[in-house]
Amino acid sequence: MAKKNDTILRTKFPERLCHWFLVICFFFTAMSGLSWFYPSLSWLSNLLGSPQLARILHPFLGIIVFLALCFMLVRFAKYNLFAKTDLIWFRNVKDVILNRHGQKLQIGKYNAGQKVLFWLIMASILVLLVSGLIMWRAYFAHLFPIWVLRLAILAHSVSGIGLILLILGHIYLALWVRGSITGMVTGYVSRAWVRQHHDRWYDELAAREAAAKTDPKP
Ligand code: HEM
Repeated sequence: MAKKNDTILRTKFPERLCHWFLVICFFFTAMSGLSWFYPSLSWLSNLLGSPQLARILHPFLGIIVFLALCFMLVRFAKYNLFAKTDLIWFRNVKDVILNRHGQKLQIGKYNAGQKVLFWLIMASILVLLVSGLIMWRAYFAHLFPIWVLRLAILAHSVSGIGLILLILGHIYLALWVRGSITGMVTGYVSRAWVRQHHDRWYDELAAREAAAKTDPKP
């Protein structure tokens, strides 16, 4: 367990860099996308310079978001695989929401709610990529019949709104669990934070630390 005083390394530098790069790219992609939903939102396309620029940049930014999420998938998938112990979290979700920490919930590096969000984010970006490529007028749209384009536009709109809602939920949870944003900025969280929010991960790290102490590598 990498340590700095009484802290634990939770997120490595390349992952943090990718995450915050993703946040910037996602913001501009989502805002330009929303600008085409309703006339009163059209001003949002000016965030990318002008409506014309937004129209050109949106698909490229979307691909960058997809690639950044591929990196996150490679780095985080193993921590987001569902485990039997996640059932305890689901059964006690009310206590989690009310911040009652009575019993050990056996939470690994990420909790069951984060895992559900993680896979929904990955599923949404896949639908957005495929539907977005199909409806990309400059390159591919002419290759498909109109009914496929209509389906793609519908799928793109639904998954786009879905992903924005998921990210709003993600931001809410990040703000709500104090210390997690600091963890994503500095990489480090306190031991107390890990013990409180991710008890099973804490036990695993402590066991590894104890093993390293009794059997130090030369
Ligand atoms: C202002 C916006 C955002 C904030 C404040 C935020 C905050 C955070 C924080 C604090 C974590 C670490 C959670 C932990 O250590 O338990 C995290 C993880 C993560 N974030 Fe964000 N995030 C934001 C936007 C986004 C966006 C736009 C995406 C993707 C489109 C995203 C994708 C992820 C992913 C994939 C993880 C890893 C979670 C896991 O493995 O379960 N985040 N975020």
